[in-house]
This record gives sequence, structure tokens and C-alpha cells, in this order.
Amino acid sequence: MTDIEDAIHIDVHLKEDREGALKDLRAGLARTPKELNPHFFYDDAGSALFEKICTLPEYYQTRTEKALLEASAGDIIETTGIEEVLELGSGAATKTRVLLNAMHQAKKLRLYLPFDVNEWIVRRTAKELTQKYPGLKVHGIIGDFEKHHDLIPTGKHRLTIFLGGTIGNFSPKGAQRFLQDIAEGMHPGDHFLLGTDLIKDRQQLHDAYNDSQGVTADFNLNILNVVNSIADGNFDPTGFEHRAFFEETHHRIEMWLDAKREMVVDLPKAGITVTLKNGEGIRTEISTKFDQEKVSALLESAGMRLEKWYTDPDNLFALSLARRI
Ligand SMILES: C[S@@+](CC[C@H](N)C(=O)[O-])C[C@H]1O[C@@H](n2cnc3c(N)ncnc32)[C@H](O)[C@@H]1O
Repeated sequence: MTDIEDAIHIDVHLKEDREGALKDLRAGLARTPKELNPHFFYDDAGSALFEKICTLPEYYQTRTEKALLEASAGDIIETTGIEEVLELGSGAATKTRVLLNAMHQAKKLRLYLPFDVNEWIVRRTAKELTQKYPGLKVHGIIGDFEKHHDLIPTGKHRLTIFLGGTIGNFSPKGAQRFLQDIAEGMHPGDHFLLGTDLIKDRQQLHDAYNDSQGVTADFNLNILNVVNSIADGNFDPTGFEHRAFFEETHHRIEMWLDAKREMVVDLPKAGITVTLKNGEGIRTEISTKFDQEKVSALLESAGMRLEKWYTDPDNLFALSLARRI
């Protein structure tokens, strides 16, 4: 084994859990309206499309959160005394590199634990990071962060991070449960860093999910390819239209795929046949937007206390540093 391979360890929990994915699929498509869990977005093509979304001019989230990390990394490292980072939904860890870089420079970087549903992106990221930071150990975990929290190895002086506004994809109850799991896994001296997208100008929000190049539409439609591959199905993505809008009651963007005609779709591995009326939608994502009060209340409800709130001058995005109560 090379030194780099020695520095990388990956646990794969998803292959053992195919039945779990099929169960999610059956449950979502039996609801009214029909829904798909957003984790189905992220096969290799979906992860690559999300990386492209992050570079779009309309998608202010990524560049704003990255700038916030650049401005706050030193303070976070000093305040917390962390030596390892567990990242849930790590993806390509593009922004995380800012934090890892600052920890490396402060001689504090020991271990990085990326946790994601997509194995290809975790392996690629692990290789890139161990090449960049000699001495860094990467322990990747391939799993579902809603189900496999108890499979995360325990640590010390750990910062758990959940970036990209992904917390907005949960229902309010789901977000509370998810954060409770995180709080329960935290030891004295551990911290939590949460990225949240903030409530803002409706047009700016609308444009971020309806980009002019149609990348978000491709990302949304690709979920049907993922479902086909998991369930041996025959969804025809060309028969659907991407729709994303701001829903005022819950302060959230909703993404839908609307059927352009009546259809009957077989998903044999899931043991179901789905019928759609012309114009009927499948909800593929919610993305709730927050303010400081809402984040603080959510953290408290999960057993954590907000310690620091970092935001940009235009209040587009926020990072919250918290610890277990
Ligand atoms: C919105 S992207 C954010 C990626 C990255 N953290 C960022 O901020 O750019 C969500 C990430 O979470 C992962 N993900 C989504 N649902 C997941 C689940 N249930 N379990 C594990 N990973 C999941 C996706 O594969 C994707 O990499």
C-alpha cells in the first residue's frame, strides 16, 4: 500500500441497505402529493451536477458560505480547539477545504471524516485531501445520515459540520431529530457548525433554483434516472418538467417534477406501479430558509446552544457554531 492509501479508510454501509432505499421509495411515492427523498439526487451524475450548480452565478449560497468560512475559520479554530472534522453530506468538500487549510496551518489538522451517500465523491475527495495534507488521516463513511448515525466512530476535539443549507431539506420534525442525533454523539469539548440559507428577496431565491443554463433542471430530472437504476424502473425523464418556487407559509423553496402527460411507471424492484395524471407533480426537495431566531430555537430543541452566529453583510447565508447543552 502507498502512504496515501494508508491514510485513507472508507466504511461502506449503503450496499448492505438496498432494501432501505427501496422502502424510502415506496413510502414517498405512496404519499399525496408524491415525494422522493432528496438523497436520491446523488448518484455520480447527480453529484457532478450539484458541483456545477455550486459554480452558477445565480447560486449565491456556495460562494457566500465559502467567504464566511474564510472570514471565520481562525475564530472557529481558536474558540473550539478542534483537531478533527466530521462532515455530514460532505460532497466534494469544496468549502470545507478552507477550514481544513486553516487547521493545517495552525498545526491542528489530524483527522477528517467525510460522510456521504455517494461513494465516488468521498473516495475522490479523500485522495485529493491526503495528497494535499501529508499526515492527514481520512476516515470516510458511505451511508445515509438519517439512518446510520450510530455507525459513526467516536472522536475527540471534534467539530461536526453540516454545510450547504442541507438542513433546509428536512421537515421541521426531521431537522430536530437529525440534530438530536448529532447532539447525542457529541462529547464535552466537541462543537457543531451549521450552514443555513437565510430568508431574503424572493426573486433572488427564485433565480437560484431556476438558473438560466438549466443545470438545476437537469439535476432535478436526474433523480428519475437514479430511481430507475435502483428499482429497475421505466420513468421517462423527458416526460417531466422542472418547477421550483418559494412557498411563503413555510418559508421554503419547493422543487417539483411535473408530468407532461398521463403515465404508468413500473418500478419492479420496489414492487410498485405508479400512475401519474397529466400535470401531476412529484415533490423532490424542500429547502427551508431561516433567520437567527429560527436557527437558535431549532438548536435548543435538539439539545444544543448557539454560541456564535457568522453572517455576510447582505444576510444571505449564516454559519452557526453550537455546543451541546
Ligand atoms: C446540498 S449537497 C451539499 C454538499 C456540500 N456539503 C456543500 O455544502 O456543498 C448535499 C450533500 O449531502 C449528501 N446527502 C444527501 N442526502 C444524504 C443522506 N441521506 N445521507 C448521506 N448523504 C446525503 C449528498 O450526496 C450531497 O453530497
